[in-house]
Amino acid sequence: MAHDALKVAVLISGRGSNLQALLDACADPAYPARIVRVISNVAGAFGLERARAAGVETQVIRHKEYDSREAFDAALDQAIRASGADVVCLAGFMRLLTPGFTAAWQGRLVNIHPSLLPSFKGLHTHQRALEAGVKLHGCTVHLVTPDLDGGPILAQAAVPVLPGDDEDSLAARVLEQEHRLYPLALRLLAEGRVRVENGVARIAGLADSGVRLLNPGP
Ligand code: GAR
Repeated sequence: MAHDALKVAVLISGRGSNLQALLDACADPAYPARIVRVISNVAGAFGLERARAAGVETQVIRHKEYDSREAFDAALDQAIRASGADVVCLAGFMRLLTPGFTAAWQGRLVNIHPSLLPSFKGLHTHQRALEAGVKLHGCTVHLVTPDLDGGPILAQAAVPVLPGDDEDSLAARVLEQEHRLYPLALRLLAEGRVRVENGVARIAGLADSGVRLLNPGP
């Protein structure tokens, strides 16, 4: 591991394709982050296999074994700290985190959400985008605050909504961009270029706009 690489814990609940994108990025010695542990709240999550294949330590912390959200989050917190991680990336982690947890990791807790926030917070984003008739959809990487899907935006990728799209085709188009966007956004954090002012993330450096908005044509 590069001496000064950012140490990252990734939290997942399932497939782990975004985890894979981060693992692939971190495989490049020039990339400024390394994944030190992958934690899943679901024992059978396929993402755990991806982590093992990449030689990354894994851990399962089942939310069902805890009496309260606070107790589950305390176990998560302890595991993340034990891993030595500086930053936590949520990658398809489908549990709400308590305000105590998000406060403890403020500025160091990142999520990827499958919509152009602040539109379509929450679940079923692709179906809701289709129902709303939007012509642009996409994904967002943001810092996590107690405000669900409402934290400072680090980067976004837009995709067109095409005639004939259904939930699956739209999800696939967005997911392809998620895999590009998450490594770009994590890099910004790892390079120490993110500063939050009045709830808005400012990025130091001249190449700012080039890496914060991915906007592929149809
Ligand atoms: C991704 O589309 C991610 O944006 C979404 O779940 C999927 C996980 O896929 N996350 C959320 O909806 C968070 N509320 P993956 O396991 O293949 O990365």
